[in-house]
Amino acid sequence: MTVTALVTGAGSGIGRAVSFALAADGHKLGLVDIDGDRVEAVATESIGRGANGVVPIAADVSSEEDVRRCVAKITDHLGPPTATFANAGIEVNGPAHEFPLATWQQILGVNLTGVFLTAKHVLRALIDAGVGGSIVCTGSPSAFVGFAGGGNAAYSASKGGIIALVKSLAVDYARHGVRVNAVVPGSIDTPHLSIGIPDAERAAHLEGLERSAGTQIPLGRLGRPEEVAEAVTWLLSTRASYVTGSTVVCDGGLTARSANDF
Ligand SMILES: NC(=O)c1ccc[n+]([C@@H]2O[C@H](COP(=O)([O-])OP(=O)(O)OC[C@H]3O[C@@H](n4cnc5c(N)ncnc54)[C@H](O)[C@@H]3O)[C@@H](O)[C@H]2O)c1
Repeated sequence: MTVTALVTGAGSGIGRAVSFALAADGHKLGLVDIDGDRVEAVATESIGRGANGVVPIAADVSSEEDVRRCVAKITDHLGPPTATFANAGIEVNGPAHEFPLATWQQILGVNLTGVFLTAKHVLRALIDAGVGGSIVCTGSPSAFVGFAGGGNAAYSASKGGIIALVKSLAVDYARHGVRVNAVVPGSIDTPHLSIGIPDAERAAHLEGLERSAGTQIPLGRLGRPEEVAEAVTWLLSTRASYVTGSTVVCDGGLTARSANDF
């Protein structure tokens, strides 16, 4: 069955891969990203891959006005989004005792408030239309464990908040026929992994990450965005009809492993 899907952070990485997977299944897509050029490019390619209509929108998920506009436009053109991937996220790291409040608020604003606003306006559109649906939100292993690399306080707090939000929304909206789940990608080979790394150092940085993945991740490698998309499209579909309030971890075993070897 063709559904209307809304994907935030659709312009790159995991959001882009999920958009293409949904396009290949012939769904209608409302694609949202703060980067207008990137979301237009993904929209064009999604049509080529089989999407049954695409509405690309440049918007900031941390702005309620932007999110309200996105959901209204997608609902008007494609129908209410019964499959939503609330995924847009950013990461800035640094030691908590030196971390600027403005940066903390920016991370929480995009990652946690952005997911809340997306869910809020989608839920309202679904309730108004009298239909159920599925919402998948992007968490992170840092919601559950402190990263050995450190400096992850704001990002991990935002992702921990998402896991709690998902459970709360799942309970509240089950009676409306809306399932709400989280996907937890591990180290996935997207531009996100090189945030803050100067262009000139990017290749060496990625090589280092691949090397550490070989020893620290049980499956021995970084993940691919398409592998996360498999989990997300399953959660979005009716194949996951009895799954709500859950967390699907797609991390190659990263969070299953303790560094202790005694
Ligand atoms: N790549 C990983 O290893 C990894 C691991 C765990 C969790 N995640 C999470 O997965 C999600 C997607 O990350 P990715 O790896 O695809 O990163 P990415 O940087 O490739 O893509 C993120 C997209 O979000 C968009 N975006 C950023 N701020 C936005 C805003 N305010 N409003 C709308 N769009 C915005 C960016 O323009 C970009 O296109 C994020 O929530 C990230 O925290 C990624």
